[in-house]
Amino acid sequence: MLPSPKRLWRLLSIFALLLAMVALAACGQMYEAPQTMFSRQGSSSSEILTLYNVFFWAAVGVFVVVEGALVYSVFRYRRRPEDGIPVQLHGNQPIEIAWTIAPALLVLFLATMTFRTQSVLVAPSQDPVRVRVIGHQWWWEFQYPDYNIVTANELHLPENRDIEFALESVDVVHAFWFPRLGGKTDVIPGHTNRLNFRAFPTGEPVLIRGECAEFCGGTHAQMAMWAVVEPQASFDAWVRQQQAEAPVPAGITQAAAGTATAGTATAGATATAGTAATGATATAGADTPGPNEGTDTSGETAPTLPPPATAQAEPLAQGAGIEARGYQLFQTKGCVGCHAIAGFPEAQGRIGPDLTHVGSRQHIVAGWLENTPDNMRRWLRDPNEVKPDNYMGAVVKRGYLNEDEIEALTAYLASLK
Ligand code: CUA
Repeated sequence: MLPSPKRLWRLLSIFALLLAMVALAACGQMYEAPQTMFSRQGSSSSEILTLYNVFFWAAVGVFVVVEGALVYSVFRYRRRPEDGIPVQLHGNQPIEIAWTIAPALLVLFLATMTFRTQSVLVAPSQDPVRVRVIGHQWWWEFQYPDYNIVTANELHLPENRDIEFALESVDVVHAFWFPRLGGKTDVIPGHTNRLNFRAFPTGEPVLIRGECAEFCGGTHAQMAMWAVVEPQASFDAWVRQQQAEAPVPAGITQAAAGTATAGTATAGATATAGTAATGATATAGADTPGPNEGTDTSGETAPTLPPPATAQAEPLAQGAGIEARGYQLFQTKGCVGCHAIAGFPEAQGRIGPDLTHVGSRQHIVAGWLENTPDNMRRWLRDPNEVKPDNYMGAVVKRGYLNEDEIEALTAYLASLK
């Protein structure tokens, strides 16, 4: 028994109201969300959004036609008291031909649009900036081979230039994704994936958030990254800054540095071995055993970390500042085993992010925390509290560094602009 027309209208209006609420709620999110895909800030995201809109409106059209015909028939041909047995039909050739050909044409149209978008997305780039992206558990390494730059978790992209990404991984499968710009391409050990896109002009440096989009173990959820899209001149200035070596703090003399080296011979040796293995893994892929070997299934096994250094550094020269103390601690506490700093001869580690210009980055901890002294202290005090399961936390547990040491390391790292 059908509900009366009046009751049916009431039900329909309630349904329409609910639909409008959902649609309007989505509108608010669509333009505010930091990681929305409904964005035309990049060539790739823009092409994909256009294709998405074509599919969406085609689906809306199909829905309206099919459901409209259904609802119309239900109303128009509903059973009335005076009706007898309706006309009995078997098949209707014209209608059957129509509903076979119409969807076939629609699918053909959508397939053509898809192939068109795909060919645009893989079109060869013009005068590209090349970026090598290396996925690590759980951070991103970015190399600019043409500029001899290595950085981590923060990409700089000149606006309106083709960017050619080569995507590699040293451990497990990650996925590289800046939803506002485009992408979402798997980052696979032992295989190089390619991705091209262009970030559209912004006129000033703009920060755009990205994310690892493939479950890769313990702290996958905290494997974020940022892209700074900026005018060419601003990008060029960044390149020059990144090419410079890190300054050695005043008060660190050749002699003092030499003494500290002798004191941490063990940590230094481990660091070198670790560097060699990581380098080989990055080049040759998963075939070469590296410090991350064995992490490819569960991600539970940490890479071989240098043992905590126990040597005491020589007293600093008169007039040495807090940064000099931080520099010394960076070595004696074993940080050099995992992190590289250009211009710091003992800091050659490749397991963790390159810190040569960490002070100039907007974020720390794989894009997770803003780069403020408070956040750096919090991270150094107890990495596991910020990012449970991360590899640094295997060595640097709460209490590994005392508050004075945290203060000195924070000051030193902040000075690495
Ligand atoms: Cu890397 Cu998820």
